[in-house]
Amino acid sequence: MKFFVDTADTAEIKELAETGLIDGVTTNPSLVAKSGRPFKEVIEEICGLTNGPVSAEVVATDFETMVSEGKTLAAIADNVAVKLPLTWDGLRACRALADQDIAVNVTLCFSANQALLAAKAGAAFISPFIGRLDDINIDGMELISEIRIIYDNYLFETEILAASIRSANHVKLSAMAGADVATVPPNVIKGLASHPLTDKGLAAFLADAEKGGVKV
Ligand code: G3P
Repeated sequence: MKFFVDTADTAEIKELAETGLIDGVTTNPSLVAKSGRPFKEVIEEICGLTNGPVSAEVVATDFETMVSEGKTLAAIADNVAVKLPLTWDGLRACRALADQDIAVNVTLCFSANQALLAAKAGAAFISPFIGRLDDINIDGMELISEIRIIYDNYLFETEILAASIRSANHVKLSAMAGADVATVPPNVIKGLASHPLTDKGLAAFLADAEKGGVKV
């Protein structure tokens, strides 16, 4: 499973990209607003920090303006994936941009039928929002499994990008359900490496090495 980092904070992206564990970046208007920086400037900088896809979202809601904003975003760098909301106009814009070889990430997906439509519209990625379904007591992970079955039934190439990931458990369950990608906030990615028994075991090894004068 690929890891995208879900943030517009370039310092955090740089730090994580240096680990070699990151395959791309996703942003959304809320994350860009939080960065406090101009939209194009921040997307351009992020595109220089990774060779993988960088999702940048339109803010228009009508077909013509979405296509126009999508083209503007795609012109920023070769690795921009235009993020469009899962609405009728968003699906139409997805088809129009995909036909011009622009990668599209269809976002705000909350049902398997929405995901089916996005695949038919030529989306490169579909973003089911796990955490926000869990927030309303619907099992977000079930949605990943349903989309996996449908896409495999018809050999759709649209990648399932598990989004709104809030915990290490979400990451594990997304991988088990066959998501192609998980987009994960920086703090959750960093937390994946932690285990109290790793810390305890390492402390014991180092204490024994010290005691026994073990040197490399
Ligand atoms: O990738 C979408 C993500 O940023 C939304 O996450 O936690 O705001 O539901 P959240």
